[in-house]
Amino acid sequence: MAGIRSFHQITDSTFCTRVRTFFGDRPHTYYIETYGCQMNVRDSQTIAGLLESMGYTPAANRQSADAVLFNTCCVREGAEDRLRGNLGKLKEAKVKNPDMLVILCGCMMQEDGTADKLRRAFRFVDIFLGTHNTHELPMLIYRVLTAKERTLSLWEREGDIVEDMPVVREKTAQAYVNIMYGCNNFCTYCIVPYVRGRERSRRHEDIEREVRALARTGVKEIMLLGQNVNSYGKNCGEISFASLLRLLHGVDGIERIRFMTSHPKDLSDELIEAMRDLPKVACALHLPVQSGSDRILRQMNRHYTREQYLTLVKKLRAAMPDIALSTDVIVGFPGETEEDFADTLSLMEEVRFDSAFTFVYSPRVGTPAAEMKDETSDGEKKARMARLIALCEESSLARAQSKIGTRVRVLAEGKARKGEHLLCGRAESGWMVTFPGREDQIGQFVNVRVIHAKPNSLSGETEEE
Ligand code: SAH
Ligand code: SF4
Ligand code: F3S
Repeated sequence: MAGIRSFHQITDSTFCTRVRTFFGDRPHTYYIETYGCQMNVRDSQTIAGLLESMGYTPAANRQSADAVLFNTCCVREGAEDRLRGNLGKLKEAKVKNPDMLVILCGCMMQEDGTADKLRRAFRFVDIFLGTHNTHELPMLIYRVLTAKERTLSLWEREGDIVEDMPVVREKTAQAYVNIMYGCNNFCTYCIVPYVRGRERSRRHEDIEREVRALARTGVKEIMLLGQNVNSYGKNCGEISFASLLRLLHGVDGIERIRFMTSHPKDLSDELIEAMRDLPKVACALHLPVQSGSDRILRQMNRHYTREQYLTLVKKLRAAMPDIALSTDVIVGFPGETEEDFADTLSLMEEVRFDSAFTFVYSPRVGTPAAEMKDETSDGEKKARMARLIALCEESSLARAQSKIGTRVRVLAEGKARKGEHLLCGRAESGWMVTFPGREDQIGQFVNVRVIHAKPNSLSGETEEE
């Protein structure tokens, strides 16, 4: 089991005060640009917490900030080009304000050789920070400020879990809560285990303490995060994920609990029962299938068959007839034939997911799949993708239309992008719902009668309890 340390007890925390003292009463601002999944979003909240402990305040935009951070993702290719483009644009701002700190962090930094390459190409980047040592950020910033030293600080392996790091969240009623870090599954296409390290779970007492503290600040909905939450606690003597859900269900003030991601191979009956029996646990599950072909699933190292996946779906729907199911699918994995792809389509047709995230396979250097023969042309992959998307939209729309006339309970998140006096928020299923409302309802649960449906979104009128 990974060791556990408290941020307050390690020397890195003292650098927060030193940076504050360095600036004295001079204002200093920060800007964070976040790419990738919820893990990175949650890490950026910790980074913002650390920066604010150093006296930084949020900047209006990237160009005017005293510290600019890019929290990177590398799950698919193309991300590096985008980052290079953004850095190119920032160069001018750095010339105007030489004291601006530019910091790169996140998963891409842990990719073999990438940080070194970027360091040579972008001389004005001050700090390169990996995913395992976020807590060192105050010390690294202090060093750059006082000694003008460019640093690259990457730990090859995960270290102890550091608890009690400061955090800044934008939303008041919702919070992400990490329950575990890393991944042991090594799906053959995926870079995550290489850049996030081995699986380690937080102690259930630490998670519960965090959730209780969140509830005291007005948080009503929590999203538990891990690459494979179903294996929470395994091999380290911790309680099971289902027991963790039961424990957190008892926290007063928390009204809704979500979690992601679930790996089909580890989805237990105990978890299905816990979801069924615990009213605060949202009746929704993200269960990535990746492919409907047994041959491809084997090549992907997913450890389940199409039949086993479909059996899980049956069990889930038997326990919770209205459960909202979503998934991830990869199109064009090396060696995927038309027949394999037809298996994916037929699985999608059989399950009819509420929503699906679809990705064209992207080779990642260092993963086994990148070495596999891939004879399908890009054009063919695109054509398959278009067929898949058409099918997904059709199922999504049908699921959405089936909600018309029903009442959904929505946690109002904010103003809708379009339309005055419109708010938006998520129903228990995870669907986005738009409805007329007042600003003081943001952060509250609202009942909405569904009137219109689009694939992946609903709209309607509010109703009294
Ligand atoms: N741990 C989660 C998700 C991790 S990444 C899980 O196991 O489901 C999120 C999604 O990105 C994956 O589910 C997969 O569909 C997609 N993905 C990961 N690597 C990819 C690659 N090399 N090419 C295309 N899609 C990829
Ligand atoms: Fe990647 Fe597979 Fe781990 Fe998910 S379970 S993070 S897809 S290796
Ligand atoms: Fe990307 Fe890292 Fe998440 S590679 S998808 S940000 S774990």
